[in-house]
Amino acid sequence: MNSRSPDCVRVGIVGGGRIADLNKIGWIEHDRGEIVAVCDVNEATLAARAAEWHCKGYAELDDMLADPEVDAVDILTPHHLHAAQAISAFEAGKHVCLQKPPTLSLAQYDLVAAAAAKAGTVFKVYENFSFYPPHVLARQIVDEGGVGEVLSVRIVTAGGRMGTGQGWYVAPESNAWRFDPSLCGGGMMTFDHGFHCFQLGRMFVDVPVERVHAFINVIDLGDGLQLDVPALVSWQYESPAARYGSWELIASLDLDVSSDYYVSDDRVEIRGNSGIIWVNQCSGRLLDEPPVIHYRDGVLRSFHRVESDWAASFRDATFDFIDAILENRLPRLDVTEGRATLAFALAAQLSAAEHREVTLAEMEATRK
Ligand SMILES: NC(=O)c1ccc[n+]([C@@H]2O[C@H](COP(=O)([O-])OP(=O)(O)OC[C@H]3O[C@@H](n4cnc5c(N)ncnc54)[C@H](O)[C@@H]3O)[C@@H](O)[C@H]2O)c1
Repeated sequence: MNSRSPDCVRVGIVGGGRIADLNKIGWIEHDRGEIVAVCDVNEATLAARAAEWHCKGYAELDDMLADPEVDAVDILTPHHLHAAQAISAFEAGKHVCLQKPPTLSLAQYDLVAAAAAKAGTVFKVYENFSFYPPHVLARQIVDEGGVGEVLSVRIVTAGGRMGTGQGWYVAPESNAWRFDPSLCGGGMMTFDHGFHCFQLGRMFVDVPVERVHAFINVIDLGDGLQLDVPALVSWQYESPAARYGSWELIASLDLDVSSDYYVSDDRVEIRGNSGIIWVNQCSGRLLDEPPVIHYRDGVLRSFHRVESDWAASFRDATFDFIDAILENRLPRLDVTEGRATLAFALAAQLSAAEHREVTLAEMEATRK
């Protein structure tokens, strides 16, 4: 990696849409991070964000990349643009934070990785669920032996009713590109949102995923829009003793989910041979439960005080990128980890499309 260690990381944010409202937090709150520029093709968005962040505005990415004041870029654009934008940024010598899912295929990802290696700058794949404090606490409990050997990871997501005043307003144009798999890279729920759940599937078990099976149904929302729900994905970890994980995506489209952000209820249950952890909150707050509960040896512990605002996961993920640059170290979800989660997510898409189990070895061989 580049040996230069700056005093402050000055970022150019590429894409000032919906999620920039959370990605900006880390840049504003870190005492050695600063937003110096924004790039967006939408004139109104560009003007609004440049005014909000008191920074320069660029309609063209190449112009932003030519700006010597920009050390790093935070790419928050539709997925089909990620690879080319990241490669251009590396060619300009910038550090790159690339939102999940990083690319549409492994072959594309490898081009980005090669550009990163050539630049010698920091490359972070941005996935925030693994920085959500309740998930971080759960991992800590696992590390302390709190469940013994992890035997199973179960994730359940229920996407709730939209447009009822609960949660964020998401503009139709912010979702439009997600409904097109050629722009999104896969299903809006199973690939876009799924990237988080596949990362969680890897977060609590230290051996790689070996094989994946997915049922992904598609429902018609009218106006030519199709949503990839419900879905059931299961996987086996590479391990002499059988160990499985699963992600169930439920289409509770009339369920009210209380949330300050997306109306999605995501829960994780980690079962080991001697204990269990439940993580009960994420972007949604459906039940009045402690964010984390741990059971072992007849004792139930509830963790009420762990920070559970979903925005904290964004702050901490961005802090990790800034600190990696300042400390000249690898970020969490570095080039190797980001690729492993992408391969897992793509394997689920392939499995559902071809109605068969897919191994990660096959993904590696074909780099689809
Ligand atoms: N971590 C999370 O939980 C989370 C949540 C939502 C979105 N995301 C990710 O963030 C990214 C953006 O999602 P969003 O919901 O903000 O989408 P969005 O559509 O609201 O915003 C995208 C922005 O990119 C701009 N844009 C489009 N083409 C551009 C170009 N060529 N150059 C510069 N700007 C361009 C658009 O004008 C828009 O302002 C995606 O990768 C998405 O998966 C992550």
